[in-house]
Amino acid sequence: MNKDLQAMKPDRPNIITTEIEAISFYRKMDTKATVDEMIAGKYVLVEEFYSNGLQVLNELKRNLLLKHKDKSFQGQRDYRAAFRKASHRLLLKVKDNKLIVKKAPDFGWLELLYTDVSEFYVSFPEVQGMNSSWQWYKKGLEVKTLNLRIHPYYGTYFPTRFDHLKLFDKWLKKYDGAKNNAIEIGVGSGVLSFQLIQNGFENIFATDTNKNAIIGVSEEIQRLGFEELITLNHGDLFENCDVKADLIVFNPPWLLAKHKLEEGIDKAMYYEEELFPRFFEQAKEHLAPHGKIVLIFSNLSQVIDEESTHPIIEELQKNKRYRKELHLRRDVRASSRRTKRRDSRDNEKVELWVLSSKERI
Ligand SMILES: C[S@@+](CC[C@H](N)C(=O)[O-])C[C@H]1O[C@@H](n2cnc3c(N)ncnc32)[C@H](O)[C@@H]1O
Repeated sequence: MNKDLQAMKPDRPNIITTEIEAISFYRKMDTKATVDEMIAGKYVLVEEFYSNGLQVLNELKRNLLLKHKDKSFQGQRDYRAAFRKASHRLLLKVKDNKLIVKKAPDFGWLELLYTDVSEFYVSFPEVQGMNSSWQWYKKGLEVKTLNLRIHPYYGTYFPTRFDHLKLFDKWLKKYDGAKNNAIEIGVGSGVLSFQLIQNGFENIFATDTNKNAIIGVSEEIQRLGFEELITLNHGDLFENCDVKADLIVFNPPWLLAKHKLEEGIDKAMYYEEELFPRFFEQAKEHLAPHGKIVLIFSNLSQVIDEESTHPIIEELQKNKRYRKELHLRRDVRASSRRTKRRDSRDNEKVELWVLSSKERI
């Protein structure tokens, strides 16, 4: 790992390190009144048992659902925003990097992400998020296409369905072009770069705007013995990249953002209008002669809203700088498992696009 990466600090949930004015909540207290105070802007500190916090959150949900009866997309969005705002006022105290309430989950992120501070307050939903992430990080996630387990770092996108990996695998197995250099934009938890390695690529420049993704993949490549094969970079698109690649691989976010994007995992799911035009413009400069761009995408956006545009089709029609070599599609298998992030919907397909530059052929 280079020095810049060693010095990189992961993004982590916000904490409060000063003394705060908060209502101490015990299980026999009036939960409804406490929730009203929380909605009005007061902090509430969970005392005694972790489950007391769950009790408050359940009441908060009940309270807000009574006020947010509108089941439309916007109505549900407003409900979630109100829940998010108020629930983050429910706090837990951390001492010696451990939650002090009884029967609390024990997870390592409170130590690993907060090496500079040991005593602080953190919101209950952030604790739930860290706890869930820790389970994946510790146990790992089996990726059959790779025949290995990955251990996604806190705040990093990882696949919960694997159709796009199968599609990429199918294509890679038939690929008979040069394998000198590859670039992966948006490495996430590393899966596509690992597929490239397993298919014979030995020089991969892998990059992401999310610091935690880079930190996580740097741990993974040490564990898997891939350090010599992947160069990691934290940056936007081709920033700091002077490679000309035989393959440029990008599994971008699939939905156009209608909100201002936050750093971190938000950018794994949503893209700003300019992302694709910028990608296509810069990619030209990083393709070796006869190099190819492989994009993994989905029709999810069209499934949700027929009017929405497809950024790859738009590029091909508008700019005439790339030639479409291949467009593969595969049904997304219905998933019974938890994935709120990219819900399975009827007619949803994953797509693999292979483009080459028109100028060089
Ligand atoms: C859908 S995830 C894909 C992750 C991984 N490659 C996979 O297939 O599971 C998209 C990734 O692109 C990253 N990303 C989004 N915008 C980016 C940009 N402008 N430059 C580099 N990476 C970006 C996100 O942080 C995220 O890790």
